Amino acid sequence: MKIGIAGTGRMGAAVAGRLLSQGHEVMVWNRTREKTSGLAAAGAAVAATASELASRCEIVITLLTDAAAIDAMYHGAAGLLAGDVSGKLFIDMSTVRPETEVALAAKVRAKGAAFVECPVGGTVGPAKEGRLLGFAGGEADDVARARSVLDQLCRRVEHVGAVRAGASMKLAINLPLLVYWQALAEALSLCAPLGLDPVRLMDILADTSGAPNMLKVRGASIAATLQGKETSPVTVDIDTVRKDLRTMVEEAGARSRTLPLTARALECFDEAVKDGWGARDVTMLPMRWLGK
Ligand SMILES: NC(=O)c1ccc[n+]([C@@H]2O[C@H](COP(=O)([O-])OP(=O)(O)OC[C@H]3O[C@@H](n4cnc5c(N)ncnc54)[C@H](OP(=O)(O)O)[C@@H]3O)[C@@H](O)[C@H]2O)c1
Repeated sequence: MKIGIAGTGRMGAAVAGRLLSQGHEVMVWNRTREKTSGLAAAGAAVAATASELASRCEIVITLLTDAAAIDAMYHGAAGLLAGDVSGKLFIDMSTVRPETEVALAAKVRAKGAAFVECPVGGTVGPAKEGRLLGFAGGEADDVARARSVLDQLCRRVEHVGAVRAGASMKLAINLPLLVYWQALAEALSLCAPLGLDPVRLMDILADTSGAPNMLKVRGASIAATLQGKETSPVTVDIDTVRKDLRTMVEEAGARSRTLPLTARALECFDEAVKDGWGARDVTMLPMRWLGK
C-alpha cells in the first residue's frame, strides 16, 4: 500500500520518515521542493504535483500550517482533489479549527473518498519514534481503516467522535501547554535576581507539581538557551504557537465563550512575533521575556 504525505515541513517530514522506517512505500509532495530531498534520499518517491500524489497513493496524509494551506493543497488546480480520488482515504493531521475539518471532509467525500481528521499531540521527536497522541474524528469504518497507519505514528489514538471532535480535542490539549510557555517565562523572571545556574533552576522547576511533562523533556534545552548556548534545531516555532493560540481564541469566540488567559498569552506571542522572534523555537520565549 502506497502512502502519500503532502506537506513535508517539520512534522510532515518526521511522519514520512517514520513510515519509511516501518517499511512502507512512501510518496511525498511539498510546495517547496527542496524539503523533500532528505526523504527522497531515504527512499521516498517525489510526486510532481499534489494531484499526482493523490492519484498514485491509497492513503494521503496532510500536515499543513493552517486553513489557507489546506485550501491550497486540496483545492488548487493541481491540488489533491483535482483528479479522480474515489475510494482513497485522506487523513488531515494539521492543527486547525473544527469547522475547517468539517468543510474539508465534505469536499473530500463529495469526490467519493473517505476522510479522517487526526491532529496530534507531540512534536518532531515523538513523530519520528511513532509516539504521538492522536485525536481521530470521523466515521467508525474510516477511522478503523486509518488505524493501519495511525497506529504506527501514535502511541495512542483516541477516536473522539465525528469530524470536528479531533480538532476540538487537539485545541483543548494544547491550550494549557501553550499558556504554560508564557507562565514559565514569567516564573523565571521572578527568579532572575537569584542568579541560579539555569540547569539547576530547570531541574527544580521540573520537580514540582506545576511542571508539565514538557519541562522534563525540554528543560535541558531551555536551560541551554538561558545560558546563551546554541539551541537544537527548531521543532515548534513561536509562529506556530501563536497560530494555535489564535485558533483557540477564534474557536471559543465562535462558541460564545471567552478564554481570557489564552487571549492574554496570545498578545504576548503577538509581541514576540512583532519583535522578529517568530521563526525561533518556542524554548527561546523565556529568553525574550527576560530581555536576554
Ligand atoms: N511542530 C510541531 O511540533 C507540531 C506538533 C503537532 C502539530 N503541529 C501542527 O502540524 C502542522 C504543521 O506544523 P510544522 O511544525 O510541520 O510546520 P512547518 O514546518 O512550517 O510545515 C508547514 C507545512 O505546510 C506547508 N504549507 C504552508 N502553506 C502552504 C500553502 N499555502 N500551500 C501548500 N503548502 C503549504 C509548508 O510547505 P512549504 O515547505 O512550502 O512552506 C509545509 O510543508 C501545523 O498545523 C502545526 O500546528 C506541529
